[in-house]
This record gives sequence, C-alpha cells and structure tokens, in this order.
Amino acid sequence: MPDSAQLPARIAPSILSADFARLGEEVRNVVAAGADWIHFDVMDNHYVPNLTIGPLVCEAIRPHVDVPIDVHLMVEPVDALIPSFAKAGANVITFHPEASRHIDRSLALIRENGCKAGLVLNPGASLDWLTHVMDRLDIVLLMSVNPGFGGQSFIAQTLVKLRQARALITRHVANGGQPIALEVDGGVKADNIRLIREAGADTFVAGSAIFGKPDYAAVIREMRSQIALADQGAA
Ligand code: DX5
Ligand code: ZN
Repeated sequence: MPDSAQLPARIAPSILSADFARLGEEVRNVVAAGADWIHFDVMDNHYVPNLTIGPLVCEAIRPHVDVPIDVHLMVEPVDALIPSFAKAGANVITFHPEASRHIDRSLALIRENGCKAGLVLNPGASLDWLTHVMDRLDIVLLMSVNPGFGGQSFIAQTLVKLRQARALITRHVANGGQPIALEVDGGVKADNIRLIREAGADTFVAGSAIFGKPDYAAVIREMRSQIALADQGAA
C-alpha cells in the first residue's frame, strides 16, 4: 500500500474533451464507465487564454450524475463564482492562488458554501502557497500542464513536485491535521499514471485520454490496473 495519508485512487474525467453537444449523455456514459468524479474546467479568457463553461452548465449536468462535480476555476477574480457554483451543484471547488486577492478568505468561502476547498498550483508555482492555509484545504491540485487547453503533454518535473506535496500532506496528517487529497491535472494517460501514483497522487484528472477514445470503460480499467501496480510495488 502507499503511505497511510495517500487516499484511495479516484479517476476524474475532464469534460473539456467531451462532446459538448451531448454533454448529459457524455457524463452519464463516463460515470457508467467507472469515473469517480466529474472534473469541470472553468476558463474565463482572462486568467487563462480560453473560454469555456459556467454555473449554468454545471446546473444542467447535475441531475445526470450522482458523483461529485469537481469545479476547477481558472478565473480571476474568484470569489463571486463560488456561491454560484455551490448553488449549481458543485461539490469540490478549487482555484489558483494568484487569481485571488485573499486566499484564506476564498478558501473559507468555499467551505461556508458547503463544498470541499482546494488550491491549484501551476507548474511554475511554489508549494509555499500551501504553508499557511493547510488547515483550510481539502484538496491540493498540481497542474502538470500550463492551464488553458486539453491535450497537452505531461510536464515531468511535476513528479518531483508531487513527491514534495505528498511529504507535506503526510506530515500534516501525522501531526493531527485533516486529510487532504492530492490531485493532478494535465497530460495524464494510462501509460504515465503508474509513475504519477508512485509520486503520491490520489486523484487523477484525464480529459483527452478518456473522452478522446471510443471505449471509456477500457481506458479507466487500464488506468486502475496501472494504479494497482503502483500500490503493489509500494506494499
Ligand atoms: C487544462 C485543464 C485540464 C484539461 C486536461 O487547463 O485544467 O483539466 O482538461 O486535459 P488533458 O487530460 O487532455 O490534458
Ligand atoms: Zn482542470
């Protein structure tokens, strides 16, 4: 088994690579194929150079699935969208610390609205962002690509950063802190997920690797068997 603070693996398909004309059917299919969460990428053409979906779409897919909806805010400013997404049925809300003037306040606001809260760190962003808000976090999301687009290649340096984040979280939990999930987003595929698990991740976002293939269940099965190999190796 992986270290005791590392949570069981969760697969979170990103609907950024889904067919938006058939979104309800797509999310139902991917959950039937074994997805644990739906990852929902919100881009504002300001914090990132792309424009995607907002609370209306979250509300529209909510009745189609029972699994948690994991809203990844790539927007600036952040705070006004938090209650909107909570009302639209989000369960997890994460944001990029550079995009909020008051990180501690934004994290508290997410929990006050009944959601799990997390920070997202870009490839070049320091883990130091986490230091003074560990008790406010339910999840840490490390970007393994620069945010804005699906289908980019995994940045290998993320493996080093994942190990460092894993150590921070394990120490926090060992000192009596709450559990914190460690999520990774960008370029995750069946052929690199074993290394990513070994580096300490527990929540795996995958967009093009799943929605780009005809058989979602086959991809998710392969990902889980690669994760199991990592966990056996760590036993
Ligand atoms: C990138 C998004 C990702 C993206 C991942 O800015 O945050 O969630 O959809 O897509 P893939 O898995 O194709 O890299
Ligand atoms: Zn994302």
